[in-house]
Parts: sequence; C-alpha cells; structure tokens
Amino acid sequence: MEIIEQLGSLRDSAIERAQAARTLEELDTVRVEVLGKKGSLTAILRGLGSLSAEERPAVGKASNEVRAAIEAALAERRSLLAEAARSERIAAEAVDVTLPGRTRLPGRQHLISQIAEEVVDIFVGLGYMVAEGPEVELDHYNFTALNHPPTHPARSAADTFYVRDLSAEGAARTGPLTDVLLRTHTSPVQVRTLEKTRPPVYVICPGRVYRRDIADPSHLPQFHQIEGLAVDEGITFGDLKGTLDHVCKELFGKDRKTRFRPHFFPFTEPSAEVDVSCGICAGSGCRFCKYTGWQEILGCGMVDPNVFGYVDIDPEVHTGFAFGMGVERIAALRYDIPDLRMLVEGDMRFLRQF
Ligand code: DAH
Repeated sequence: MEIIEQLGSLRDSAIERAQAARTLEELDTVRVEVLGKKGSLTAILRGLGSLSAEERPAVGKASNEVRAAIEAALAERRSLLAEAARSERIAAEAVDVTLPGRTRLPGRQHLISQIAEEVVDIFVGLGYMVAEGPEVELDHYNFTALNHPPTHPARSAADTFYVRDLSAEGAARTGPLTDVLLRTHTSPVQVRTLEKTRPPVYVICPGRVYRRDIADPSHLPQFHQIEGLAVDEGITFGDLKGTLDHVCKELFGKDRKTRFRPHFFPFTEPSAEVDVSCGICAGSGCRFCKYTGWQEILGCGMVDPNVFGYVDIDPEVHTGFAFGMGVERIAALRYDIPDLRMLVEGDMRFLRQF
C-alpha cells in the first residue's frame, strides 16, 4: 500500500533529521515540520479519508506507530542536547579557584611621615611635648610676632601664598594682600605655644609649610618642617648645641660631627646654621657635599627678646633656644635622594624602598 510506504519513509527521514539536529531550536523545527498542524505526517493522515474501510485500520495503526517512533527519537535527541547545553553552560560559568588573586600591596607610612615621627620621638625622649598650629595662618604669627619688619622680603606675594576671601563682602574688605596666609615655616607655632603656656616650655612641632617656589630638585612649594622650642630659666647656647648635636647623631649616626655657622634669622639672636659632616666622604670632600665635607641640615638660635615681648615673657628671667629643620631635606641627605620631587610623585617603585 502506497500510503504505508510513505509513512515508513517519513518516519526514517524524520528520525534521521532528529538525530542530526545540533541544537534544541533545530530539533523543535523538525518537530513542527513533521508533527505540527501543517506538518508532513499530518498531511499524509489527511489522505486517510479517501481510504476504504478495510484499509483504514492498518494505516491508522501504522501511522500511530510512526508518530510514536518519531516522538521517541525527538525525546531522545532532546535530552541529549539538553544535557550537552547544560554541561556547556557549566563549563562557561566555571571559576578557576586555583588562579592567584590580585594582590594588593600592604600600605606603609610615607618616608616623610616616618622621618617626622622619628625626629618627634627623639625629642619626646628628651621630655618635649608635641605642639601643632594651623597651616592657614595669620601674618601676625608667621611674620610680625617673629620679629620680621614690615618690609621683610619673605612677606612679598612672590614668596608667600596669601589667602583671599573671594566672596563679595570679602573682596570688598581685603585688598590683594591680606593678613591670612599659608604658613611659610613652623616657627609661628613657637608664638602660639608661648601665648598659651608659661615657661618652662619644651615643644617639638612638626607640620606642613608652603612657599611660592617652583618645584625643582631642591625645592617644593609644599613641604614639611619640624620646629623645636625650649624656654626656661638659664637656657644657654651650650644647651642648644648639646641638644642638636645629640639629635644629629641619633638621626645620622654616632660617627657624624656637627658644626654651628653664624647666620641670621629675625626671630633668634644669635642665630646659626647647623651642618653635619658629610655621610658619603666622612668630611674629606665629595660631590654630594660640594667638596666642603659638610651638609647643612637646620637653622637655629637663641630666642630673640623681641619675640618674648610679643608673648609677655621677661627675657631677664627666661631664655630659650629654637630650631627648625626641613623633613624632605633630612630624607634626601639620609638616603641620597637626588630630587625632592621624587618624594611627592607617588611612584611606588621609589617609595616602597623605605
Ligand atoms: N623658620 C626657619 C626657616 O624656615 C628655620 C628656623 C631657623 C627655625 C632658626 C628656627 C630657628 O626656630 O631658630 O627657614
């Protein structure tokens, strides 16, 4: 019977197509094309009506078997493809837990903070207290009470950052120069401390300072200083020398010598600059010390009686010494850093060394 043969070849081709389907979508296309309402099996079965009553049962049976065989082939293929799709998805989502993670370097204190802390610790060991003052400072504390005459060059807007109030009222009130500035040194903390505390005073004052300098190997517009102040009865220049010699040896090594060269600062009299013997050539002269055998490290002196006048201390009763050192400079000397800008550029390859 022709229709039975048609059914047989439809079954064979449908099963073959089902087995060849590579995706669930492809498989579903086969199902619709064969078993669907407009499918090829359905089309054959439509012809059933024209068969004789004797033929019908055999064809009906055969068509049921064909449908069952095709459905079984579709189901088998479907579960195979579904399993393959599942394993593929699992493989794609897999995380390799054995891969090393992204490591973060542990944080550390910046060299500048390390050195500042070290210097402060040396003085705390000598009985000094830590004092701090504002970075936005009044002219009075930064210059006037430190005995700077009104014409002192450091007061010029070319050297000092002045702070202006840019609001409408502020602009009306202040001219191009104001009495508010970014402190140019930590020395104003001396005055603020003496205003609040009566002698004996022994303070060490670390902090950030600002100057209108262009950054170059030996200058930064923003850097750090450590100020020291000792005021008591009977303090002498000998105390100053002994204290600073001790500190230099602690900072640079016991074998280092110090020398005090006369200098001028408005707020100390007499004043000196302190040099430490060159750590590279031990004093015989090399290019690091510009063949002098010495490296300058700080400024110091005996507190000028005029400064005491601003804070109501009687210079006949109390005397004192003060000093100020640059933290970046100490770092550069200790580690032979050729350019201060390296300290602020944030290059971890450089900073991690310390
Ligand atoms: N303030 C000075 C400067 O920035 C450094 C200094 C010199 C501080 C002598 C002092 C001192 O206390 O006595 O250059």
